[in-house]
Amino acid sequence: MSLLRIDGLTVDLPAAHGTFRVIEDQSLDVPVGAVVGIVGESGSGKSMLLRAITDILPDGSTRTWERAEFDGQPVADTARLPIAMVFQDPMTSFNPLMRVGAHLVEVARRQRRSSRADAKKRAIEALAAARVPDPERVFGRYPHELSGGLRQRAMIAMALLAEPRLLLADEPTTALDATVQAEILALLAQLRDERRLTIVIVTHDLGVVAAICDTVAVMKDGAIVERGPVDTVFAEPQHPYTRSLLAAAPDRSGQ
Ligand SMILES: Nc1ncnc2c1ncn2[C@@H]1O[C@H](COP(=O)(O)OP(=O)(O)O)[C@@H](O)[C@H]1O
Ligand SMILES: [Mg+2]
Repeated sequence: MSLLRIDGLTVDLPAAHGTFRVIEDQSLDVPVGAVVGIVGESGSGKSMLLRAITDILPDGSTRTWERAEFDGQPVADTARLPIAMVFQDPMTSFNPLMRVGAHLVEVARRQRRSSRADAKKRAIEALAAARVPDPERVFGRYPHELSGGLRQRAMIAMALLAEPRLLLADEPTTALDATVQAEILALLAQLRDERRLTIVIVTHDLGVVAAICDTVAVMKDGAIVERGPVDTVFAEPQHPYTRSLLAAAPDRSGQ
């Protein structure tokens, strides 16, 4: 059963002279409850693929598809779908002059009309769900007062407040050191299990894919060149580009 299925996706970005076709005629199938990895080198179109799903492409872009379905229903517009996104650098998602709690309350009230007190309660619950220690304290902090890991947890909490069924994560651990990276990946896996969340995670790190993903799609120059269960793709890569990625990766024999 697919949560999200897109066929014939094409994305054109604005360029100095006309447009630049960054993704051409691609398909994506995200099974319910799966963690799907999208890997590929920098500039291969991973971020634009995620942004195309939620329609947050750069101004002047166009996105077309032949067919898209969410939860079995055809979709024309993704704006109202229960999809949330987290980014590599939470600092760009937070207003530095606003306390963490104020961000969360704003999202909570946008999601559901409620009193300020109720929105605060839901914000604290979301921080707790993202395993933020002492959520009441973090609620009152400014983004820059938090460690990178805590900031990422706060951003995940903000995403959870939107009550998503699909979470899109664009390099969510790239800016973090290895220990914190592992903690955030463990959190995402826990959330998937607890909330039956479906996750698409973009990364250039095959270690992330090995750690958390069920299936993987390998992107090169705006096209998915190989896809399948992680074990199969890692054990028997079919595409030369996948082979070169695996050959270049640090030793994964511990996995
Ligand atoms: N805002 C933008 N306007 C025009 N082109 C862009 C923009 N952002 C990225 N691109 C181009 O789109 C291509 C894919 O970028 P991106 O999806 O960000 O790659 P990745 O996330 O895989 O590193 C690159 O060639 C990049 O230069
Ligand atoms: Mg990117």
